[in-house]
Amino acid sequence: MAEKYYITTPIYYPSGKWHLGTCYTTVICDALARFKRMQGYDVFYLTGTDEHGQKIEQKAKEANMEPKAYVDMQVQTLVDLWKLLDISYDKFIRTTDDEHVSAVKKIFNKLYEQGDIYKGEYEGWYCVQCESFWTKTQLVDGKCPDCGREVNLTKEESYFFRMTKYQDRLIKLIEENEEFLQPKSRRNEMLNNFLRPGLQDLAVSRNSFKWGIPVEFDPEHVVYVWLDALTNYITALGYMSEDDSNFQKYWPADLHLMGKEIVRFHSITWPALLMALDIPLPKQVYGHGWLTLGGDKISKSKGNIIDPVELCARFGVDAIRYFLLREVPFGQDGMYTNESLLMRINNDLANDLGNLVSRTSAMITQYFDGIIPEAVGEKVSFDIELEEVANALYEKVSSAMDKLNAPDALVEIWKLISRANKYIDETMPWQLNKEGNKERLSRVMYNLSEAIRISAILLKPFLTTTPDKIFEAMGTKVEEQNFNTLVFGKGSCGVKVTKGAPLFPRIDVKKELEAMEKRAEELKAGAEKKVEEKKEEIVENTEITIDDFAKVKLVTAKILSAEPVEKADKLLRLTVDAGEEKPRTVVSGIAKHFTCEELVGKQIVLVANLKPAKLRGIMSEGMILCAEDKEGKLSIIAPSSDIPAGSGVR
Ligand code: MSP
Repeated sequence: MAEKYYITTPIYYPSGKWHLGTCYTTVICDALARFKRMQGYDVFYLTGTDEHGQKIEQKAKEANMEPKAYVDMQVQTLVDLWKLLDISYDKFIRTTDDEHVSAVKKIFNKLYEQGDIYKGEYEGWYCVQCESFWTKTQLVDGKCPDCGREVNLTKEESYFFRMTKYQDRLIKLIEENEEFLQPKSRRNEMLNNFLRPGLQDLAVSRNSFKWGIPVEFDPEHVVYVWLDALTNYITALGYMSEDDSNFQKYWPADLHLMGKEIVRFHSITWPALLMALDIPLPKQVYGHGWLTLGGDKISKSKGNIIDPVELCARFGVDAIRYFLLREVPFGQDGMYTNESLLMRINNDLANDLGNLVSRTSAMITQYFDGIIPEAVGEKVSFDIELEEVANALYEKVSSAMDKLNAPDALVEIWKLISRANKYIDETMPWQLNKEGNKERLSRVMYNLSEAIRISAILLKPFLTTTPDKIFEAMGTKVEEQNFNTLVFGKGSCGVKVTKGAPLFPRIDVKKELEAMEKRAEELKAGAEKKVEEKKEEIVENTEITIDDFAKVKLVTAKILSAEPVEKADKLLRLTVDAGEEKPRTVVSGIAKHFTCEELVGKQIVLVANLKPAKLRGIMSEGMILCAEDKEGKLSIIAPSSDIPAGSGVR
């Protein structure tokens, strides 16, 4: 019977627009799952969506939708994205699935009944974006240490999970079982930042909002979204359901793969829960790095969206899969730039791989009427070297994949591709043809077709359509190409090659970069417009009370000086007298409407208690009020007669 291999991605929050970073974990897991399947493992690859919690409830509200309708819509877009990227998952779990909901209730009841969950009161900070609780000392500059956003001071009745009870076992697990948490840097981080300083019991229910799985014996509470989410890895297999055969078969997970920001939940909270449930622990938790843009994690909320659907439409799915799998050194962060994407496509895919296939098929067409010849005559050192590289490749690729290192596996495959390209230069088939040395030419052509066939077989887990295109171009029987036929010399001769379209058309980098930058500008402008529209919509639809209005401190002020802000054509730096001891600095987006000269000496109305914010490195301490007409023309709001600076405006 085939050995099982259970691999999971985290389940995704179905909120906002998907970006290229979203695809990273899933594409790596997909390559690993495909590789293991080709090795003969009975693979179960799980992914899905994490649909409950305060964040989703808020997003649904913003979209003016019921939470369930909102997540249904969002989940569909994710399923479509995975289909586009050819993700070969075996199950897609939704935490709103009945089976999951019912199992989570049972798990919560069981932990409560056995005394691992008790009722108390939570008082501390909560980050809605990360759905995580923080103590004051864990905050960084008063913000969430993971995402850097504002946190809410929260005080509510809550059920708690006795995490502290498992602290010693968790420390032992991470200290003694090196394989459990990888890479090594994450182990140190968990031990030094969380485990050794001491855990706290974890709040596992919320009662200040509704969108979650109700606690069965106390329905005022919903289960904390991370407890709900983590259990997906077992409920997807039928744990605590009528049919738990998959749980019996596939658990424990062989690999939970995820981004580094959620390693804490997977290497501390999750094993503690499993210990409490008396279930074996996953064999490995691996926290990979991020795909970054300008140094920051690409994320929905930071707005630095790179749309994978657009990229796939423009460059093809395999090019995007290849970039994700190749570009980021595994375990570390890797940067996305338009240039790096285009370079990978042009250099690795179009030049190295694409050219090898097109040159070889063109030569076979020219010298042998398109029929792959038999390898005859003596082997020379070039032949032996090429053969050796090809025959050693599987071991190298599989050893990289055992370490989950897809970039290294691809580097190895490219060594064969490069060796084959070099072999063309060394053997100079055009010369052999000129000399009429058909025997030698036969072996050279056959060897090239074998190097291509072996590369393409090993590329199958990574690129999902290109290998078959290669087999077809080389007249190779697609269904026979697997890890059993990886031996150099197993490929057929006498089959006909066809010269098709290039596998990866070469890109005119300069032109493409311009087009990509233009598109990014359009997307940015669209996003900014949307934010403005949203603001208007909120203002339009929200009634405020006199108390709300009273919170805004409006005063009269006078502009003392005005100057342009460097490299920001919309901004002016104003110094204003608001009747205080010292004048204030205000950065205002009015440069396109007024000259500095006409502003100096003008009376204005200032929002004086607006939280200071840095704009282009300048701390802005307020906002001046303007009216805007339909054409976007601004007019400064000013008192109708001279009045001392600092007078209240009501
Ligand atoms: N819902 C939780 C996971 C619960 S699992 C029990 C969650 N979801 S998420 O949608 O925010 O993230 C899903 C995965 O996408 C994570 O592995 C995350 O690290 C990954 N990525 C999101 N942006 C990423 C990059 N820019 N780069 C690489 N991976 C990133 O967390």
